[in-house]
Amino acid sequence: MGNAATITSVPSQADVAARVEAILGPMSLADKIGQLVQIGGADFMPGPKPEDVIRGGGAGSVLWLNDTKKFNELQKIAVEESPSKIPLLFALDVIHGYRTIFPVPLAMAASWDPDTAEQAQAVAAKEARAAGLHWTFGPMLDIARDVRWGRIVEGAGEDPVLGAAMAAAQVRGFQGPYPGAPDHVIACAKHFAGYGAADGGRDYDPVFLPEAQLRNVYFPPFKAAVDAGVGTFMSAYMDLNNVPAAGNPWLLREVLRGEWGFRGFVISDAFAVGNLVIQHFARDNRDAAFRALSAGLDMDMASGAYLENLAGLVEDGTLDEAIIDAAVRPVLTLKVQMGLFEHPYVDEDLLDQVVALPEHRDASRQAAQRSMVLLRNEGGLLPLSKDLKHVAVIGPVADSMEATEGSWMVFGHQPAAVTVLEGIRAKLPDARVDYAPGPEIRRDYPSFFEDFEPGKKKPAQTPEAAEAAFQTAVETAQGADLVIMVLGETDLMAGEAASRGSIDLPGRQEELLKTVVALGKPVVLVLLNGRPLSINWAAEHVPAILEAWEPGTEGGHAVADILFGDANPGGKLPVTFPRSGGHAPLYYARTLTHQPEDHFMYRSRYWDSPTTPLYPFGFGLSYTTFEIGNLKLSASQMKVGESLTVTADVTNTGSVAGDEVVQLYIHQRFGSDSRPMRELKGFERVPLQPGETKTVTFELGPDQLTYWSSSLGQWVQDAAPFDVWVGSDSQATLHAEFEVVA
Ligand code: BGC
Repeated sequence: MGNAATITSVPSQADVAARVEAILGPMSLADKIGQLVQIGGADFMPGPKPEDVIRGGGAGSVLWLNDTKKFNELQKIAVEESPSKIPLLFALDVIHGYRTIFPVPLAMAASWDPDTAEQAQAVAAKEARAAGLHWTFGPMLDIARDVRWGRIVEGAGEDPVLGAAMAAAQVRGFQGPYPGAPDHVIACAKHFAGYGAADGGRDYDPVFLPEAQLRNVYFPPFKAAVDAGVGTFMSAYMDLNNVPAAGNPWLLREVLRGEWGFRGFVISDAFAVGNLVIQHFARDNRDAAFRALSAGLDMDMASGAYLENLAGLVEDGTLDEAIIDAAVRPVLTLKVQMGLFEHPYVDEDLLDQVVALPEHRDASRQAAQRSMVLLRNEGGLLPLSKDLKHVAVIGPVADSMEATEGSWMVFGHQPAAVTVLEGIRAKLPDARVDYAPGPEIRRDYPSFFEDFEPGKKKPAQTPEAAEAAFQTAVETAQGADLVIMVLGETDLMAGEAASRGSIDLPGRQEELLKTVVALGKPVVLVLLNGRPLSINWAAEHVPAILEAWEPGTEGGHAVADILFGDANPGGKLPVTFPRSGGHAPLYYARTLTHQPEDHFMYRSRYWDSPTTPLYPFGFGLSYTTFEIGNLKLSASQMKVGESLTVTADVTNTGSVAGDEVVQLYIHQRFGSDSRPMRELKGFERVPLQPGETKTVTFELGPDQLTYWSSSLGQWVQDAAPFDVWVGSDSQATLHAEFEVVA
């Protein structure tokens, strides 16, 4: 069987288009509709067997299947037995790695290094393609400002500029230089749009976002994905301003295709076309199919509504067949670009060779190092000495492969991470490293994902067993010279259907932390988690805190590299850490109130807690120190439409090499609309040797200063005075100003 990953030349757009017309011409209506249907290949799917649907021409794509041999079997049925003989596209959620797992996307954003994200997704794509997959449902580009929302872990955090940079990088990583490039897969920008703003942070709940908020904050990563050439889009599940995203012509036709010129195809989220009925939007499945397709939704993921209803809708004259043709064209285009007509099969021996490549694990370890954020380091407790004789590693996620790899594994993935415990043991081969997990942590309500993964469901620990585990952990800590507490969340505590009301450390973890700290030993806290947690007590009482997120296959090694100084942390928070779940959404780029903090009548917004973040957006420490200065603007005034340059010098003033992420924020003092008190407009991660200085340059012009105005209902660049800050987080104080004049 030929290998799908060997296309030698890139066909021109005109050639592809001609080819597509030649394929489309003789297709029957039923064949065309089949191309708009994606079916589930998993055993849990009800209904007819995938083989039979494919043989009958009822599917153009298959998801929820991760079995190379089976891909070839199904493909053979499609290309030899189905009426149109058109090959299938195999799709799966490859979110942060196929076999070699990388840090979760929120962590990758914390690297503030788009190249790291691009390389990670290129490795993921190479492994996935070798397994026989053509298409991933990533990157997830939803801006998330509500830390209760579980899917915050899948995206790049709260900011549109950082989000857009990560979006484009991931598309390049997945797809390579052009759609169909060997060793790459087609990407899917999801979930369009606004999903991260669900009411109360509850997954799938409705979203109400004004157009200005959508255009200025939630759309930029999606627009960046289109500009980077993303092949497909996925619509979101929820109601957006009372119109479900899967049936929303404004989103899918006007903005995506009309304004942005997207030429790929849009797939629904799973079952979302049929869900239009459950959401009390469509009358029945037929109405749902009609309204979704009319709105610009090309492919139905797993609901069956298209397969059952589109033919009838065309036959009775409700739907013009030209709309079906228009939806089929981009699907066929992708199949042509992927070379599937020439090479429909995958070489079944390839995967083992590809996943064994040592550079994949190296890339994962490096990405994990680069994504970790040092939150506290009182008295320079970190880095630790490798001469330590007796260390205790304590906590329920310290030796958990699942928590280390994090949420959204590919279907059927067997966890294989180096845990933090293993990483520390490997780093200290001669020391005594004791371990105790303490009481288990678990969700109060189980995740539906547990139903899909055999072995996931475990009986709960009894209160007596939990108490015994607590005592053992304290005793284990008592005997050691230094304690490393590894606390946080398990893999299913963040992700889809994993929202929380509180963002405290789950279970008895904080109680255990307090008890261990009270022993009077030096304590380091390592966090493994998929969202910010309200670690208020730790932030005051634990001298060293490392945010390691869900760091992936090499996570344990990477944590140990950082703890023992073989790598210097340089990551920065891509999301604000609030002091409580009740403070969400809390984000830095908000507009001013009439009683800002320096106002004589300023009262804190809550009477029971400070409104300020626990850790601000952009924050992160290093083992070295940096100074940012010499802020210069190329002009103090410019006209609307012109640009100026901002430069600043960054110096490593400490004694070890390290990276500083230099960040530029602006504020427009008045205008057509009130503008956020700060907005990130540029950033650069700069590696510096001790004593070294580099100059960082940013551009400020119409791209950075234009926004969608609620007052005017259009894009505007105002003539107004601006503040500029350059520094190491969103509270930077190094300041300059300029004015834009008419
Ligand atoms: C999720 C999507 C995912 C799809 C297919 C849905 O439940 O919302 O993000 O791509 O399932 O697995």
